[in-house]
This record gives sequence, C-alpha cells and structure tokens, in this order.
Amino acid sequence: MSRNDDIRRMRQLEQELDYHSQRYYVDNAPEISDFEFDALLRELQDLEATYPEEADPNSPTKRVGSDLTTEFESVEHRYPMQSLANTYSSEELGEWIDRIVKELGEVEFVAELKFDGTAISLCYENGALKRAVTRGDGRRGDDVTNNVRTIGAIPLKLRGEGYPAMFEIRGEIIMPYASFDRLNREREAAGEPLLANPRNAAAGTLKLQSSQTVAHRGLDCTLYHLAGDNLPYTTHAEMLSAARGWGFKISDHTAICRSREEVEKFIAYWDTERKALPYATDGVVIKVNSYAQQRTLGSTAKAPRWAVAYKFQAEKALTKLVSVDFQVGRTGAITPVANLEPVQLAGTVVKRASIHNADQIAQLDIRLGDMVYIEKGGEIIPKITGVELSMRPTDSKPFEYITHCPECGSELVRFEGEAKHYCPNQSDCPPQIVGRIEHFVKRKAMDIEGLGGETIELLWQNGMLKDIADIYHLDPVQLASLPRLGEKSAANILEGVRRSKEVSFERVLFALGIRFVGETTAKYIATHFLSLDAIALASVEELAEAEEVGEKIARSITDYFADENNRRIVESLREAGLKFDMEIKQPTSNALMGKSVVISGKFAGRSRDDMKALVEEHGGKNLAAVSANVDFIVAGENMGPAKRQKAEKLGVKILSEEEFMALIEGAEPIEKKTVVEPKTEAEAKPIQGTLF
Ligand code: IVH
Repeated sequence: MSRNDDIRRMRQLEQELDYHSQRYYVDNAPEISDFEFDALLRELQDLEATYPEEADPNSPTKRVGSDLTTEFESVEHRYPMQSLANTYSSEELGEWIDRIVKELGEVEFVAELKFDGTAISLCYENGALKRAVTRGDGRRGDDVTNNVRTIGAIPLKLRGEGYPAMFEIRGEIIMPYASFDRLNREREAAGEPLLANPRNAAAGTLKLQSSQTVAHRGLDCTLYHLAGDNLPYTTHAEMLSAARGWGFKISDHTAICRSREEVEKFIAYWDTERKALPYATDGVVIKVNSYAQQRTLGSTAKAPRWAVAYKFQAEKALTKLVSVDFQVGRTGAITPVANLEPVQLAGTVVKRASIHNADQIAQLDIRLGDMVYIEKGGEIIPKITGVELSMRPTDSKPFEYITHCPECGSELVRFEGEAKHYCPNQSDCPPQIVGRIEHFVKRKAMDIEGLGGETIELLWQNGMLKDIADIYHLDPVQLASLPRLGEKSAANILEGVRRSKEVSFERVLFALGIRFVGETTAKYIATHFLSLDAIALASVEELAEAEEVGEKIARSITDYFADENNRRIVESLREAGLKFDMEIKQPTSNALMGKSVVISGKFAGRSRDDMKALVEEHGGKNLAAVSANVDFIVAGENMGPAKRQKAEKLGVKILSEEEFMALIEGAEPIEKKTVVEPKTEAEAKPIQGTLF
C-alpha cells in the first residue's frame, strides 16, 4: 500500500470510528461489537504511529487518553459562564412566570431537567473540538481539554453541516449511577474513602492528572446551551435540535410549556420519574424559548433573567431514633452514628444515619426515642436534619454524650477549635491500632496487597500485629498457619511487605498516619525537609515554614515525635529498611546552583514537567509560588496575569523559554565520578564472605 492509500485509510477510519462512537455513546444504539470497534481503533493507532504527522489532533484514538500529567491552564471564557437564579418554591416560580408573561405577552418556555454534574464549556472551531473549559469562577476556568476528549459522548468532530464556524456549547459532565457505583466499589476494595455523590465524583474526575484514568471512569455529557456571535437560530428549541443533528447528546426530556400550569405539570411528572433515570438530577430549568425575548429580558450581573432553576426538595423521611453507636477512628476521633427504625428513602432502605458530633446533637436536641427527619441530599449516608417535636415521648430526657471511649474506656478529650471528641489512648485502643495499620497498608500509602481490614483484625487478635512496625516482623510459618489464610495468601502478604520497602519517602511519611498529615501535606513536608530525621527534629515554627503547614499540623507532628512509643515504632521501621529520605537526582551542571525558579505557563518546546526536571538537573530548585525568594520565573504561553503582576511588583526577573534554554545550554557539566564497568562475569561477582 502506498503512503497515499494509508492516509486515505486513516481518514476513512477516523470517520467510521466517529460514526460508531456516536451510535454507541450518544444514540445508545451500537451497530458493531466492541471487538470490531477495538480492531478499527487499533488499525488507526498503528497508522498514526507510522505517520504521526498525518494524525488528526481530534482523532478518535485520542479518546483513550494519555498518562501524561497535565496541569490545568486557567483560560478566560469568551462568553462568561453565568449561573442560574434558583428557587425551591413553586409559588416563587409561578410568580417568575407571571411576571415574564405580563412583561412580554405571549411567551413559550422550554422546561428541561437540571442535571447534577459539573458545568463545562466546549469550544468548536470549523466543526472540531478546540477546547473544553470548566466553569471556574464564571470568567475564567480550567482548560481540561485532554480529559474531556476521553468522554465518548462528546463529539471530537461534528457531523452534518450548518454548524457555526465558531461557537461554544455548554452542558453538564455527569457520572451516571452505574459508573459511580463501580468507582466506589473499586475505592472500597482499595481502602480509599468513598466519594459522596456523582456530582463530586464527576467534578473530581475532570481534574485528574491522568486522562487515561478519566477515560475509564465512565463519564457522560449532556448539552443545553449555545453561545456564539450571530447564531442563526430564533429559538432555544431550534438550537437544541440543530445541535442534536451535529452529534451532541441533548436530553429528550424537554417540553415546550405555554403556561404556568404546563410548567407545573412537567415538574410534578419529573419529581417522581427522575428516580428511574440512570443519572442524578436535582431540579428543572425553565427557559424562555425565543432568543429575541431572551435578549429583551437580559441578564443581571450573575444570571440571565430569562431562565430559572426550580430545585427538587431533597428526599426526606421520618423515622424513630433507636440508639446511637460511637465509632472510634484511627486517629481516635469519635463519630456518633444513629441506628434507626428501617425506613424507605430515595430508593433504599435506611437503617443508619450520620450525626456529625456532640454539638449537632445538642443543637437539634436529638433524644433517644425521638421521631427524626433524615435526608439524603445526594450523599451516601443520610443525615439527621431535624426532630418532630410534636411526636416526642413525654418521658424523654436530653441526650447524654459519652465521656469515655466505648472501646477502651479512656476518658475522652476535646481539642480547642475541634468539634469532635477524641480518645487519647493512641497506643492501646484497639480500633485506633487496627485503623492505623489499615491506613499504613493502603494503596496510596505503603500499598501492601493482601493485608485487608479482616486480615489485619485477625493478625491483631492473634497477637501478631500490635503496631505498624510489626508488619516487618511477621513470621511466615505462623502467618500461614492462621485460619483462612494459607500459604499462598501468606506468601502474597510477605511479598507485599518486601516490596513496600521501595515506597518513596513522602508516602512513608503519609503512611505513618500523623493526625492532619494527609497525602498532599506529606508531599510538601517531605520536599521541604528531605528526611524524616529533619522532620522529627524540627520545631513547630520550623515545621510551619513548609508549604500548606499551619500551626495545627505542625503541633500534631511535634506531638507525634514527642511520644516515646511512636519513636520506637519509627526506629523499628528504619531498621526494617523503609525509605526515610527523599531521593535527589545528582545535578549534571551547576548552571542554576542555588537558584529558586518558578516555571509557569505552557511551553513550545517541552512540557512543564520537563522544564522542571531541567531546573533540577542544573542544580536549581523549583518553587510553586512567586515570592521574594524566587530568583526568576520562566514564563511560557498564557502565564496567569496574577503571577505576572506579583512578579513585577516584587521585581522578580521573568525569562522566556529561549532565554532559559540559553542559560543552561552552554553549562559546564559536573565531572562525573568514574565508574569502572566490570568486564567479565567473574569480576562482576563479589567475592563471597568479604562484603560484610
Ligand atoms: S442553563 C445561561 N440548563 O445548573 C444559562 N443549566 O445552577 C446556562 N445545569 O451552571 C445554564 N442542568 O451547570 C442550564 N438544563 C440545564 C442545566 C443547567 C444543569 C447547571 C449548570 C448551571 C447550574 C446553575
């Protein structure tokens, strides 16, 4: 096949794959099997590898996502993204309709569902997706194009014709319940915290660094608004139907309403029917259909006057509070959990509800035996929102909060400014010990496979695990002899334990489970202090110099290292061979020795991470924020104006990519230590017995 044939085939494959994506993701009516689809996709991928210069930036292969990290550029919206006025009251909604009808005479409204996801603005130029930007503050948002490209429901190229040469289409990125449930099941299995609702899950996914992960999260997107100059439509409904023709997913659940009654009917219908939809909705949006009338009504500073959101009431149920349990977390924090008489709420039977802390019990005057209101509001565990006082038993008494730990009997303490009670018995309170070990082994910490919650509990009950350090002294024979374990699982655990010694220092620091030191904070502290010893020796003031660390965190760290038991555990972990230091690459030149540099914006020649790596290779230090300590900033395309202003104010030098490259290009390399490569196998082997 000639080059020309191949290129023709590439264009053909792009078209076919686009067509089948549309049939699959938008129309929900696939014509070919997943297998056939994958075969076409692979064929295109191979051709693109052979002719990278011919690959379309919007090729269907780009949906698979790349694993490159992307920091998000902040970009200005061409048309600001407004929000909507909203109301929970059908009376207020009725008044809004009446007012508009009075002002304009005959008015048609379009009623639509209000999708509960995260807003997105998609910019198309000549029928191709150019950019996808989050709402941000309405004026500027984050450029999340690479992640959005992986969402099958969003066309990368439009079909049909008649679309404007340039326009922005807006809608909602949503995570259907099926994807949300799958994600939470995976997170549960990995010991990660569950996501509260599909809205948070969608918004969080969109901001992930790896678009490959985004591609697997099963996001969907539905569109509902068009913005552009001189758009050739006279009504909103006409625009929706045109956009549907170009391949966008537009909801079918819309209706033209000519009166207040028709709007009310639409709302009443969907308030019940929405429960059968495969995704979350939280209301109905009512829009004036005619664009001319929309223009007459105009906008306030925040929202258009021609649209309003009616929000559904969160689903509520009334049931009896039977008892309250107190759970003790790994940090000793006490969480009260209500046991309820089972009741039906938003499609599930609810038996438990969360109560945040003692203050909430006091504020709502919640008492045992009360009839309480519970609400779901999109969260997994419902919460108690009120008490039906008219149904209170006459002999009820105010709730007495516990004063001692239900697990170990220690007297509870309360820290200043903290609403929760804590059990201070860190070293002997069983759920704290088990919780800390669970935290230590989880994926984002030491990632020790095979050691799930149940196994930890079992090992603890058998006296084999009393703290995290014991993990490195597990006896293989004893382990394999435990009920339910066996040799294979035991070997699996020990292999996980062995591998965990390679885990980087910042994750070791996170794994220790120091109160308030989460994953990100651990990273900042590790980068600032470079070793565990330096952290253990630092004062509160010194700790607070690290980014993101305030007095509360700093104090928690010094408290941790002041505890003798913790110091013993840390020493034992050191002996086990865990990484207690940050790994630092040897610089190849001194060109930037002692210089603090901020890399900002997009660069023509290389990625931002590559730029940062160059700084380190030449002996410099990367900083995230502009301050007087910064020697210079390397500014790429669209560096944020706030950063530039700050740099100018502080007199920090701003270099272009070229100037930066010139600075390091001529640099003298540092002389490398000569390493003599062994020549023969015999020479390469150490002589037995002389090494130690
Ligand atoms: S129209 C200028 N229609 O709700 C009008 N918004 O609370 C733009 N939303 O920011 C918005 N479903 O993220 C519109 N059918 C729908 C919607 C919808 C969900 C979201 C959107 C908006 C927010 C306002």
